[in-house]
Amino acid sequence: MSRPAPIPHGLPMERDAGPFDPPRDITRLRDARPVSPMVFPDGHEGWLVTGYEAVRQLMADTRFSSRKDIGILHMPYDVPGMPAITEPSPQVPGLFIAMDPPDHTRLRRMLTGAFTVKRMKQLEEHIVDIVERQLDELARLTPPVDLVKEFALPVPSLVICELLGVPYADRETFQVNSAKFLERNVQLDEKMAAYNAITTYLAELVTRNRAAPGEDMLSDLARHDDLTIEELAGIGFLLLLAGHETTANMLGLGTFALLEHPEQLAELRANLDLLPGAVEELMRYLSVVDVLFRYATDDIELGGEIIGKGSTVMFSMLAANHDPQRFENPDTLDIHRTARGHLSFGHGIHQCLGQQLARIEMRAGFEGLLRRFPTLELAIPANEVKLRTNMNIYGVHELPVTWTETAQ
Ligand code: HEM
Repeated sequence: MSRPAPIPHGLPMERDAGPFDPPRDITRLRDARPVSPMVFPDGHEGWLVTGYEAVRQLMADTRFSSRKDIGILHMPYDVPGMPAITEPSPQVPGLFIAMDPPDHTRLRRMLTGAFTVKRMKQLEEHIVDIVERQLDELARLTPPVDLVKEFALPVPSLVICELLGVPYADRETFQVNSAKFLERNVQLDEKMAAYNAITTYLAELVTRNRAAPGEDMLSDLARHDDLTIEELAGIGFLLLLAGHETTANMLGLGTFALLEHPEQLAELRANLDLLPGAVEELMRYLSVVDVLFRYATDDIELGGEIIGKGSTVMFSMLAANHDPQRFENPDTLDIHRTARGHLSFGHGIHQCLGQQLARIEMRAGFEGLLRRFPTLELAIPANEVKLRTNMNIYGVHELPVTWTETAQ
């Protein structure tokens, strides 16, 4: 069989197969050539990896460097003005998601204790309280309301603010600038301005913490004398951004997906014990952190292809998680399937540090919402829901919902 030629125009992003499925071209490509050359719009040739096994293997291989941009979740071609990468990029202080060992190891190690399953379990009750309070507020509103604004975004923002000791009253600074940072086709200088606005704010906060530490995670980190203020601000940025944008989009898009699958939603309402499994399946099915990339520091064999040293390698978690070689009927949401093994929290040394926290937030969030709003429904036709195809974390911009009754 002849192999398809390199894709000429970068990664297709339009959700032409529906709001939850990979773009058709991506599915076709994965089935034909799961490790495929790709010409980026700026003309340089790199690779696109879409098959489950290959994506997993590449995330496990540290020869694929994470030092590939100014930080997090950027593709070199979607930031106008950003040059193609020709060598591992300089590291941004504190941003360990974009570092390699040993620098990555040094910073991540300082945080693992704070994110253990046990520590997160201890927080669970408190997270449930935050969810319930937010649902009280929601119930006081007259529908229709935007669920993203009133629920999906506030819950993880409140949780991460409290964990980090960032005043929630200052949320405008980080929510608006995080969104700018994650938007595609925004000029590099605008992205940098958004990044600088958040880190300048955080640098002031951690400077105060260092002088008078509180009971929060950034204060704990500020006690490490070997961390500079710049590093602390960078770590704070990463935790703040990763801590609210991802989970917010899972709650928003996840609710949309459940409303579009009313039978499974009814089953879930009737038996909330199904929720942990359903959350894993929603993670797989939706893959809100879809596209990531790495930089090859060597010639590396992957899925029968040789990725040349110096190549930019993009990979699609959505495509991998919808790979029929790994999951049966992958484009079907099935809350009964064993979705374990999905790659939505990444894999290897950069695997998501906040995954236990995210799971607790999602379980508490969906459980509370389903229990208290038994008649929840979309307030607009599904095809009018605004999808975040212009953002580096997928989801819905708004989710107008309505209801006729609430419960306690
Ligand atoms: C890393 C997804 C929630 C903090 C990652 C990675 C993915 C991911 C795919 C790997 C990135 C890579 O390999 O380049 C998600 C999803 C979430 C979520 C889908 C929600 C549903 C959170 C939360 C936090 C968090 C709540 C809390 C603070 C981090 C950090 C890293 C990371 C610090 C970098 C880890 C490292 O480089 O060692 N996440 N995440 N994430 N995540 Fe999450």
